Amino acid sequence: MWLYEKKLQHPVRVSRPDVKFAKMVITQYGGPDGELSASLRYLNQRYSMPTDMARAVLTDIGTEELAHMEMIAALVYKLTECASCKDYKEAGWEGQFVQHDGGLFWADANGVPWSAKYIACLGDPITDLTENMAAEQKARATYEHLIACTDDPCVKDTLRFLWQREVVHFQRFGEALNVVQDWMCQSKHIWTGHEIKREDEEQPAGEDKTSDSP
Ligand SMILES: [Fe+2]
Repeated sequence: MWLYEKKLQHPVRVSRPDVKFAKMVITQYGGPDGELSASLRYLNQRYSMPTDMARAVLTDIGTEELAHMEMIAALVYKLTECASCKDYKEAGWEGQFVQHDGGLFWADANGVPWSAKYIACLGDPITDLTENMAAEQKARATYEHLIACTDDPCVKDTLRFLWQREVVHFQRFGEALNVVQDWMCQSKHIWTGHEIKREDEEQPAGEDKTSDSP
């Protein structure tokens, strides 16, 4: 279960409405490397993790990504607050106005709707944790692109906070990957969704049939 705190993880402020930038930042709401994709990916993957630590990391980060999704929603709302049809047309985002007005819609910066295909899950912990590290780097890079596209210091502050958290998440997934790899070595099991004994466990000592040496 979750407990909801009625506050944002970090303040979200804008100096002025900016519909054009809202059209860009919406990708962190419903794009492939956005906060919805990240939260659902991690909260889904935790069921197939083999250690308590890895499950806890996925739960913690998946939960925090939900809070980031809320920050992006607040940011888009403030950037489009009181925007008119003319404002949306000038920003080249009239499709948003026609179909949703000021309502949020899960899409990327090019208007492509969010897809479950963004949630990678192979059920193999090494694969999934490595995927997550790549996902965090993609999110970091996207935030850097967004920061480069705005001159609003308030918006930059929000985006820098989110950028920083992606770096931390990358590091924590790296720690989880190390723990899972250690678990595999110590338990002498490989993982393919089930625990499977290594072939060399079945062989008598001194008869390593997998060795290429004469
Ligand atoms: Fe993240």
